Amino acid sequence: MTTRRSLIVGNWKMFTAIEDGIALARAISERTSDAEYADIVLCPTYCGLYPIGELLRNTRIAVGGQNMHWETEGPFTGEISARMLLTCGCRYVILGHSERRTHFGETDAVVNKKTLQAIAAGLIPIVCVGETMAQREAGLADRVVETQVREGLSGLSGEQIAGITVAYEPVWAIGTGRVATPELADEIHTRIRNLLAAVSNRETANAVRVLYGGSVKPDNAAALLAKSNIDGVLVGGASLHPDSFTAIVEAARS
Ligand code: 13P
Repeated sequence: MTTRRSLIVGNWKMFTAIEDGIALARAISERTSDAEYADIVLCPTYCGLYPIGELLRNTRIAVGGQNMHWETEGPFTGEISARMLLTCGCRYVILGHSERRTHFGETDAVVNKKTLQAIAAGLIPIVCVGETMAQREAGLADRVVETQVREGLSGLSGEQIAGITVAYEPVWAIGTGRVATPELADEIHTRIRNLLAAVSNRETANAVRVLYGGSVKPDNAAALLAKSNIDGVLVGGASLHPDSFTAIVEAARS
């Protein structure tokens, strides 16, 4: 059986500017210094990336971007490149978050271009997928997620797939307090892994960490993480407080 180390990711979205972010990163770093059982990634706002990247250099915690452009450079006002993320100390980048898809019109084709660029640059993409409530109620959840996985990862070699992370974040669970049950999440994660096996092979699919995101809190994290196909969590609101985030990291211990 493949053992995948738990991966706990904090997505700070557009919260916490520099000073608060540094204090939060420092507190989390101090309080998780013995959490050798899990990998931890913090994804601050852009202005916090460099100082927090410096602060966390040579610690157990990695830093990630929340988004990036698919080109190496160019006249793309307001955008950030993979190389810029790398020079801020990032190892990871979240791609295709539902908030990017909903508010900024990101399509699966865009997510695919970004994923290929992130891999080429040496970043580990965390590719987000997930259905809306309307899609779930219409019985389309599986199909929506399958399309997002297939198109988002189109053109990746088996080796490249082995190096990515996928996050299942049902849109109806994000910021709503309405978490997916561990059973439902595990079922979709199993489908995602089977799909990864179909586009590569079983060994590759078994190497990929599939995270769950959407209202993950200290009181529901352990039950989610106990499921065999839930390899970690992508945390929004609860990652903004050292107490709740470190409690979620602690939930990965067993
Ligand atoms: P919440 O944990 O606030 O629901 O956000 C989840 C999310 O979008 C993480 O990327």
